[in-house]
Amino acid sequence: MANIVVIGIQWGDEGKGKIVDLLTPDADVVARFQGGPNAGHTLVIGNKKTVLHLVPSGILHHNTLCLIGNGTVVAPETIVEEMDALMQAGIPVTDRLRISDRCQLILPYHRSLDAAREKARGKARIGTTGRGIGPAYEDKTARRGIRLIDLTSNDLNAKICESLGWANFLLTEYFKTDAVRRADVDTVLDLARERLLPLIADVSLLLQERHKAGDSMLFEGAQGTMLDVDFGTYPFVTSSNTVSGAAMAGLGIGPAMIDEVLGICKAYTTRVGAGPFPTELYNAEGMNHSAGRHLAERGQEFGATTGRPRRTGWFDAVVVRHAVRVAGVTGMAVTKLDVLDGLSDVNLCVAYERNGERLQSIPADAGILDECVPVYETLPGWSENTFGLTDMAQLPNNAKALLARIEEVCACPVKMLSTGPDREHICWL
Ligand code: GDP
Ligand code: IMO
Ligand code: MG
Repeated sequence: MANIVVIGIQWGDEGKGKIVDLLTPDADVVARFQGGPNAGHTLVIGNKKTVLHLVPSGILHHNTLCLIGNGTVVAPETIVEEMDALMQAGIPVTDRLRISDRCQLILPYHRSLDAAREKARGKARIGTTGRGIGPAYEDKTARRGIRLIDLTSNDLNAKICESLGWANFLLTEYFKTDAVRRADVDTVLDLARERLLPLIADVSLLLQERHKAGDSMLFEGAQGTMLDVDFGTYPFVTSSNTVSGAAMAGLGIGPAMIDEVLGICKAYTTRVGAGPFPTELYNAEGMNHSAGRHLAERGQEFGATTGRPRRTGWFDAVVVRHAVRVAGVTGMAVTKLDVLDGLSDVNLCVAYERNGERLQSIPADAGILDECVPVYETLPGWSENTFGLTDMAQLPNNAKALLARIEEVCACPVKMLSTGPDREHICWL
């Protein structure tokens, strides 16, 4: 198999975990390259559901090496809990999981800062996952972050004093809230020392060796292009680059090691958290279009990390075209087609209109995107059941027509079609 970057090309939760898991039998290595425990990747095998936040989605396959790259921010408590749950389920982890020594740690004060900032923003809050992602990446860029390798350094105390000192200054003086105790930070550092240091590796070197040996690799993205810190709906985004380009900087590899970019999108759109969403139909704040409610209910649209209800809406080809371009997507996997079963009509947004002008691409300003009105094409729906189908030939003609139109308006081929949460629910094109 070629080396494939798998990324989300909407607002996250497209089904990346499921697709990575089902491609893993053909891969020797699966590597995460950005994001952190804000991610929630769901794998369903038979009646067993596994949600992964930091451990790569290849972990259920016993012969696969799973790597966490330097671009990722790691919360020691979360990953240790995840490792323990996997091991309790009989999955060997420590032999097959390696974490970059250059990974930044998420420490308790990052979560406190995340919460304090969201509270201070009030109505303008981003709706983060509260996992401390933004503050951890801020510390990284400000060069006061704590990396896994720092746990072996004589300077660790000075580094913690700087990082915690800054956080506590902000918490107490600016946000007027409680400081984080050094003892609580030390507890987490002790856990990381005990459980994570034995797993550290130079991930870039490992990948180079494996590449030379002819191994095939999956690079697993988190979030989605519309949450990318540069190309998403800034400032309603996450704090990392989520596009395919981030795989290189987040692992220490060059472009020649990447053969394909597989973009995952739902056959409709969802978003958790605040920010513009032009094709939105349904949300917990009272928007209640019946098709949107159908998508939320049938799609069981609740966040895998926070349990929050997801906002739902029609498929937005302007969003997906944008992602196909900025991330160089070479093929798409369309997921959750089954959720559209039973809708009499299905809308596809092909462009936007704003002040009488037509827009074909995503404007840089989130305020402008918020004013965009979708231009829809309406296609006939289907009453047949597509749940669990594994053969394209069995799809209703209207579903085939929808997929053909999605390929056309997004200018990208559909390579896989997912028809249910289970690993087996897949049509290969
Ligand atoms: P990720 O973050 O991109 O890995 O996606 P999540 O796991 O957060 O959310 C996707 C949800 O949809 C999970 O509950 C999956 O089990 C489920 N899912 C994935 N593909 C399909 C599909 O084709 N049909 C249905 N009905 N559910 C799916
Ligand atoms: P996966 O990998 C969906 C969203 C949050 C919020 C914004 C910023 O499962 O697709 P953050 O905590 O990152 O600072 O929050 O990004 N968000 C996600 N939405 N899926 C995710 O990950 C997300 N990770 C972050 O809801 O709007
Ligand atoms: Mg998710």
